[in-house]
Amino acid sequence: METLLLSTDTAMGNPAPLVISAHAKVNLSLEVLGARPDGYHSLVSVMQRISLCDTLEAGEAVDISFTCSDARLGGNDNLVVRAAALLRERYGVTTGCRLRLVKRIPVAAGLGGGSADAAAAIEILSRLWDLRLTQEEMETVGAALGSDVPFCLRGGTALVEGRGERVTSLPDPAPTWYLLVNPGVAVSTARIFAAVQRSDWSDGTRTRDIALTIERGGLSHLGVNALERALFELHPESWACFERVEALATGRTRITGSGATVVSWHADERSAERDAEVLRAMGYWCSIARSVHREDAR
Ligand code: C5P
Repeated sequence: METLLLSTDTAMGNPAPLVISAHAKVNLSLEVLGARPDGYHSLVSVMQRISLCDTLEAGEAVDISFTCSDARLGGNDNLVVRAAALLRERYGVTTGCRLRLVKRIPVAAGLGGGSADAAAAIEILSRLWDLRLTQEEMETVGAALGSDVPFCLRGGTALVEGRGERVTSLPDPAPTWYLLVNPGVAVSTARIFAAVQRSDWSDGTRTRDIALTIERGGLSHLGVNALERALFELHPESWACFERVEALATGRTRITGSGATVVSWHADERSAERDAEVLRAMGYWCSIARSVHREDAR
């Protein structure tokens, strides 16, 4: 039915919809520096765009309409719809759009799926509505929608600071493979941040060191994650999953974002495949993704 819709449009003379990939991210390292008066936390993180992605289509329409392959996410509170509404308001757009999202990135999993969709919506609608937004303008709109959206708009590898809105691009590291393992618990980012304690805070040195290594052409190994303690305490099943991945990829395993997805770092795809086979047999959702460079086509 979906293909039919597209061909009907084209047959009727409507231009084919624009299509964009909305890529997930992993946090190679994430430190919390402290709490801010606005309820957020100051962070230092190195983030990496990865190949796992959703797909967003946008076509011309009079009003805004939105459908999603995951019916639970099809409401007007979806970040994709909120991005469209915000762009219309800020830039005085009088036309609408028909948006269709195909989800592949697990939801509430620390992979930035919602933020990736919002970033993709800003990019694709900027094209559809011929807004000619600069990178900086897109990232400013993105920051109003969520802390990870500016990075998702930038892509590649980057040092991310502040609430998430200060993004400094880093050179592309050597191609890397990530095994993503999810224990099937949906995690509320707000709940994890609320459980962060002063003892979880640090000065950002370890994460900045990783950024420096990448700048000098070194490998993008995994660093630390200040949210892990809170996650493991609130969701013990995520600790069990972490331990199983760590047993196979010792010293190369971390939680991404507020979790609960466990990430292990691999220099080649075969090694990631081997671990995935073991972990799938235990019943975990597994996916293998590669690092995506900033200039890679979307
Ligand atoms: O910005 P976003 O809506 O994605 O953040 C979700 C929640 O995560 C926020 O409401 C906040 O509780 C927490 N958060 C935080 N500090 C950040 C980013 C997010 O405390 N830098």
